[in-house]
Amino acid sequence: MKIQQNISLKPYNTFGIHTNAKRFISVNSLKDLKELIASEKNIFILGGGSNILLTADVEKLVVHLNTKGIIVNDFNDKVLVTAEAGENWHELVLWCVSQNYGGLENLALIPGNVGTSPIQNIGAYGVEIKDVFQQLEAIEISTGKTKIFTNEDCNFGYRNSVFKNELKGKYIITNVTFKLTKKNHSVNISYGAIRNLLTEKENPSIKEIADAVIAIRQSKLPDPKEIGNSGSFFKNPVIQVELFKELTKKYPEIPHYIISENEIKIPAGWLIEQCGFKGKRFGDAGVHEKQALVLVNYNNASGKEIYDLAQKIQQSVMQNFKIALEVEVNII
Ligand code: EPU
Repeated sequence: MKIQQNISLKPYNTFGIHTNAKRFISVNSLKDLKELIASEKNIFILGGGSNILLTADVEKLVVHLNTKGIIVNDFNDKVLVTAEAGENWHELVLWCVSQNYGGLENLALIPGNVGTSPIQNIGAYGVEIKDVFQQLEAIEISTGKTKIFTNEDCNFGYRNSVFKNELKGKYIITNVTFKLTKKNHSVNISYGAIRNLLTEKENPSIKEIADAVIAIRQSKLPDPKEIGNSGSFFKNPVIQVELFKELTKKYPEIPHYIISENEIKIPAGWLIEQCGFKGKRFGDAGVHEKQALVLVNYNNASGKEIYDLAQKIQQSVMQNFKIALEVEVNII
């Protein structure tokens, strides 16, 4: 284990933003991680770097968690799959699909690593991690003690968990266990675009679902290897029914999902598109041409440029719709 000085973080964040880590260390085992945190408390844990926007050099010691391994506990009707934090998320999904383990297929092609997936309760196409989550293990930085978190302990919500709130920066997630099906998979095709792609199939297999999800994502989301991005930059806002009624007078076609009697969720991508930002480019910072919820770095944008664009969008959406867009990505 060796601490390196002044390392560019460009290869370590999917936005492809260049800032420096004053000090940087790659950790490949749990033993090394425990040894490290016995002496270093002021650390910044870096997983797949897929949900961060770096706006400045990082003063804390950047710990790149690179632990690997998958363990399977087979039961008659189900299987528990435990993956180490440093495993790549999409590779885990593909591996589960290849074993015919069902549950993660709707979450194919989401960038990032296993260890950070529960922090924002990653979700797509009708499924969220909380639906298949069994437990996770995490180390408390201040004490070095390991704690198991159940689904309830994580307090999952829409793109949210206890690790984004009261326990923010306090624990390092070291592995996550998923409860998957081995047979009689009840696949989730609630999302219209998946249903449309699979119209011919009576009982689509989990492989067919994963393939459909991959095709949909590739058709409208930019590949971070080609254009820097962090997926959805904002959360989809939930508004009160009174405001919704007011907005429908001017925008009768406003897309929406009913959350409860009083609450309506509006796709942020639609709001941003209505404000005229879709496909717009400001220097190297831009709004993706096929999905307005995704901000992109065409090459050399700084974190500040992306952040300034995000603020411009928030102001415009506020002015036009009286809706406050909440940032989903962690601004560092
Ligand atoms: N829309 C537009 N213009 C756009 C984009 C979207 O009008 O440029 C409207 C359309 O009406 C469309 C609707 O928004 O039908 C929903 O769009 P989409 O299906 O692309 O989903 P989203 O609500 O924009 C969410 C997640 C995505 C996830 C998809 C599919 C959030 C913040 N984002 O996006 O997650 O892949 O649903 O389930 O909830 C991510 O978190 O990084 C992410 C990509």
